[in-house]
Amino acid sequence: MTTRIIATGAYAPEQVITNDDLAKVVDTSDEWITKRTGIRERHISSGENTSGLAVKTARQILERAGIKAGTLDLIIVASVTADYSTPATSCIVQKEIGAHNAVAFDVSAACSGFMFALSIADKYIKAGVYNNAMVIGAETLSKIVDWSDRSTCVLFGDGAGGAYVEKSETDGIIKEEIGTKGEICDILTGGYTACSNIFSENNDSTDNLWYVSMNGREVFKFATKSVVKSVERVLKDAGAVPGDIKYVIPHQANARIVEVISNKLAIPYEKFYINMDRYGNTSSASIPIALNELNEKGLLERGDRILLTGFGGGMTWGTMLISW
Ligand code: ACO
Repeated sequence: MTTRIIATGAYAPEQVITNDDLAKVVDTSDEWITKRTGIRERHISSGENTSGLAVKTARQILERAGIKAGTLDLIIVASVTADYSTPATSCIVQKEIGAHNAVAFDVSAACSGFMFALSIADKYIKAGVYNNAMVIGAETLSKIVDWSDRSTCVLFGDGAGGAYVEKSETDGIIKEEIGTKGEICDILTGGYTACSNIFSENNDSTDNLWYVSMNGREVFKFATKSVVKSVERVLKDAGAVPGDIKYVIPHQANARIVEVISNKLAIPYEKFYINMDRYGNTSSASIPIALNELNEKGLLERGDRILLTGFGGGMTWGTMLISW
């Protein structure tokens, strides 16, 4: 028994900000951003928060799966930019779509968040606890990005993507792994809220650690190493070889990272589905947005072997081999 993706969905805010638009606010250029990252434009929210993007995605997924919200057993939202600390974004999704019978909670694993959430849903389903789940990655990174820092603000975008999964006796998740390396958690941080209160020494709650801060080179090294090792392990455990894979859906952080991964794994670059040129890095939403595009284009046929793989803050990684 396994877990199968039945339907996918995605939503990104309408407003598109190009590299040229960014060059008007920070000292950068389309040439620098495109060459170093592969990103050309990104969707940036005009005010709609993370739950709004997640709810739109959830409604689309329900419609495409052809199911009623009341039949959902589990809703997991992955995000590092939730509207609130509490309620969880998943609880807002549950309320808005009317999934009265579901259990809902959020997970926080940055850009690997969707992989972590899907892995958890898979475990519940394989254990026989639940028959189905809706898993969503949703982010408004624009609210934790320092728009005066050219080294980070050019990288990120807002959006949401997700999938409805069900217990399956045939195709579905073949092998997966998630992992963390907390020792280097400080190479990528964001959203810090200081402990300040009327009895504390510092009662100024503003802190510049709120913004995304990153050691780009260290993240680059971690990403290329961890993803390659993780993919190798998953393929080996599944008794599969790179030639079996029709598409790899990588976390859409940076085209140069994908090039290194492609070379090291000897999987041709053309097999990697790339849309970071239009979305930038949407953290936990990046893999499901790309998966949804691939699905919408009708490029996936039943039984195709696809590989989802990502890395993120934490530091975290996750890889999944799927028979579509
Ligand atoms: N426009 C113009 N110049 C810039 C910009 C910009 N947007 N950003 C940085 N620079 C300048 C720097 O100031 C520096 O100038 P200097 O040499 O005069 O000091 C020069 O460009 C080189 O800067 P580096 O940071 O060394 O540039 P690098 O080639 O390492 O590229 C990048 C930076 C793209 C972030 C790279 O390190 C990288 O790809 N890292 C991987 C991290 C990543 O992709 N993170 C995404 C989010 S994290 C995640 O998804 C888990």
